[in-house]
Amino acid sequence: MANEQTHQPTEPSYQSVNFAEKLSRIHDHWMPRVVAELNDNQFKIVKIQGDFIWHEHADSDEAFVVLEGELRLDFRDGFVTVGQGEMYVVPKGIEHKPSAASEVKMLLIEPRGVVNTGAETSDRTVQNDVWI
Ligand code: NI
Repeated sequence: MANEQTHQPTEPSYQSVNFAEKLSRIHDHWMPRVVAELNDNQFKIVKIQGDFIWHEHADSDEAFVVLEGELRLDFRDGFVTVGQGEMYVVPKGIEHKPSAASEVKMLLIEPRGVVNTGAETSDRTVQNDVWI
């Protein structure tokens, strides 16, 4: 896809990351794009709508920062809603199922290389390290 690459931009840049600008170039759901890295962690923006699958990340916590909309995270014994301007960290090894009744724009923070569907493989599983 245009304006996307699979590695970090190499040219020096003193430009801040503008979430709205990045999000304006995303026209699909459940396809996270990397916008920055911090040590071995990645910041990824994504638009979601509808239901994701149940999964867990055995070795990694996963942070959800909601930029717009209301995210629902279901767990086997409860759920949490995460609204605009809020965040939630799912601990490693905890089964979770994200969903969004209406479109949600959010930032994910997790280590490089984590598979979005955990140990599960589905049509929701996406390629990692796609930058925007
Ligand atoms: Ni997850």
